[in-house]
Amino acid sequence: MRALFLFLRFVVVAWAVVATWCLYALTQRYKSSRACPYSWRWILDNLGRRVVHPLPQTIDSFRVDRGHTVLEVGPGVGYFSGEVARRVGPEGRVVCVDIQPEMIGALRQRLLREGVTNASPMVGDALGLPLAEGSVDCAFLVTVLGEVPDRAKALAELRRVLKPGGILSITESMPDPDYQFPDVVRDLCHASGFQLLEHRRRLFGFTMNFAAT
Ligand SMILES: C[S@@+](CC[C@H](N)C(=O)[O-])C[C@H]1O[C@@H](n2cnc3c(N)ncnc32)[C@H](O)[C@@H]1O
Repeated sequence: MRALFLFLRFVVVAWAVVATWCLYALTQRYKSSRACPYSWRWILDNLGRRVVHPLPQTIDSFRVDRGHTVLEVGPGVGYFSGEVARRVGPEGRVVCVDIQPEMIGALRQRLLREGVTNASPMVGDALGLPLAEGSVDCAFLVTVLGEVPDRAKALAELRRVLKPGGILSITESMPDPDYQFPDVVRDLCHASGFQLLEHRRRLFGFTMNFAAT
């Protein structure tokens, strides 16, 4: 009981420290690029993240399925990528597109270490996805949309590469300095030809799933 209490106290204190740091970062970051810097990669995979975004439950909400071709935009260092690749199985494929070569380099190493062979990391921009029209069953973005300077253009690109009826899954989480509020995500996606299927509220954020119409 005491150990549980100490653990919960640690989680709350750690979250408060990260939140304070992110608020500070928010005031600093737009001096340079909008994308989460590679030097901040530690924030993408740690104990607190595993509490806020437990892998199995979070991935359940993306609606990826066996055999799917899945696009992950902004994978960072690949917190979700390997597990999603395992979910789609050998007949499926995960394409991971990130604008920062350092993130893709780290992701490539991680996938090699984990023995994942059905994921393809590539450097690319959400504003011009290196994929053919109607080639993807499911696309997901976790704390990425707010970093993209032209969100409507990125959503139009996602609409282009998704098959009709394909799933777009967007997860946002506080205290991300680029956090996008649910109303904003919903309105942007509606305007880009997506239909809301579900809105899952979670600890410190949400996942919204849309169908490409
Ligand atoms: C906050 S990190 C999230 C990483 C990962 N989704 C996760 O949850 O661990 C945002 C990622 O999006 C990438 N990103 C930002 N703008 C992008 C763009 N225009 N196209 C592709 N990736 C982008 C960044 O390089 C960074 O790796």
